[in-house]
Amino acid sequence: MEMEALVSLAKQRGFIFPGSEIYGGLANSWDYGPLGAQLRMNIKRAWWRDVVEQRNDLFGLDGAIMMNPKVWEASGHVATFHDPLVECNKCNHRFRADDVQGTICPDCGGALSKPRDFNTMFKTQIGPVSEQGTSVYLRPETAQAMFVNFKNIMQSMRPRLPFGLAQIGKAFRNEITPGNYIFRTLEFEQMEIEYFIEPETWETSFETWKQWMLDWAKTTGIDLAKVHELEVPAADRAHYSKRTVDFEFDFPFGRKELWGLAYRGDFDLTNHSQASGERLEYTDPTDPKRKFIPHVIEPTMGVDRTLLALLVSAYDEEEVNGETRVVLRLTKEMAPYQVAVLPLSKKDELKAVAQPLLQELMRSFRCDYDETQSIGKRYRRQDEIGTPYCITVDFESLNDQQVTVRERDSMQQVRLPLSQITHYLSDHGLTS
Ligand code: GAP
Repeated sequence: MEMEALVSLAKQRGFIFPGSEIYGGLANSWDYGPLGAQLRMNIKRAWWRDVVEQRNDLFGLDGAIMMNPKVWEASGHVATFHDPLVECNKCNHRFRADDVQGTICPDCGGALSKPRDFNTMFKTQIGPVSEQGTSVYLRPETAQAMFVNFKNIMQSMRPRLPFGLAQIGKAFRNEITPGNYIFRTLEFEQMEIEYFIEPETWETSFETWKQWMLDWAKTTGIDLAKVHELEVPAADRAHYSKRTVDFEFDFPFGRKELWGLAYRGDFDLTNHSQASGERLEYTDPTDPKRKFIPHVIEPTMGVDRTLLALLVSAYDEEEVNGETRVVLRLTKEMAPYQVAVLPLSKKDELKAVAQPLLQELMRSFRCDYDETQSIGKRYRRQDEIGTPYCITVDFESLNDQQVTVRERDSMQQVRLPLSQITHYLSDHGLTS
């Protein structure tokens, strides 16, 4: 699949638009249109349900984006959240040192500077007068709110090990080389878990979460044949990690990191304990004299990269009657619209059947309604946005109170009484 085809479909059909487009855009910023916003919501909702709502060893959290700057000193981000940057002395283009070979600018042939460390945290000011204001960072990961609130969680929820915190939220990084569409942006969203464990159980816990991530990829519709595990060598690991496995994905622009799984040891809680003076430790309920700092396994997933991997996995083109049919084979849970109600014409008699049906279906499913253009074109549009079922109301429906249900992947059609449609769709796995 070509990236251009996906980018064009995503724009034409309301998934992803270039950011600030009418002003000429802003490099590497993207806006999610109605269908993209719904797809993001479906991803996050499925994650939150599976991680928080359907487990009793994980709790949700919604921390602030701006935190006390001491957080980022203690976490090591001020000192080490750097990328090596080189700059061309002729065209002034900047590159990550590890993305270029040699000392020649790949854009103009000029000479590249020596690498220097570039901290990728965004800094901003709180207060009306910038010189007197407090400098704060936009968080580069959601994780820290989960460490900083450890004591609050222990006091309010009284959890026993192992337990975890889960959070979904925006993170910001001043990337030297953003790009590849929504793959690497300056502002993105993460779904992160910090899972607190007894230190000696880390290997088992790591394996359990590794498997969980693969299972979750499968149920959401990510093509597992395109997913590869990479054991990240020590030299390439983040400063806090004792072991990292990246889940890479075969994107059209190459095999790149989709998600990560890290063993953070007691790095964060120890550093925050020392820096804040608060004891961020756990008391063994079976032996109150045994107090220790739990270790942490961190499964981390980007919402935007998940969405891109889903689109790449779902995008399909096939030949039907000599024409190319583009179809997004999204799962029923992920599809922005699950059902489209399509009256054959705009005539009021058909509306009188189609509108009440739409109202009924909207109580249970995410629905679209379309009465323009030929039915063939409307089917193609619904295929392109991944709608699993189309329901056509025709003139015969007025007599027999039946409608045609068309399934996206097989394109098979069945004629069913109006009164059975909701049941039929639920029986076929549709839940909102
Ligand atoms: N708390 C750990 C952490 O932040 P990370 O590997 O730096 O680890 C986690 O980031 C995930 O966030 C990545 O696996 C990726 O899915 C996503 N991500 C990171 N940087 C990104 C960027 N610039 N644009 C989009 N997604 C990004």
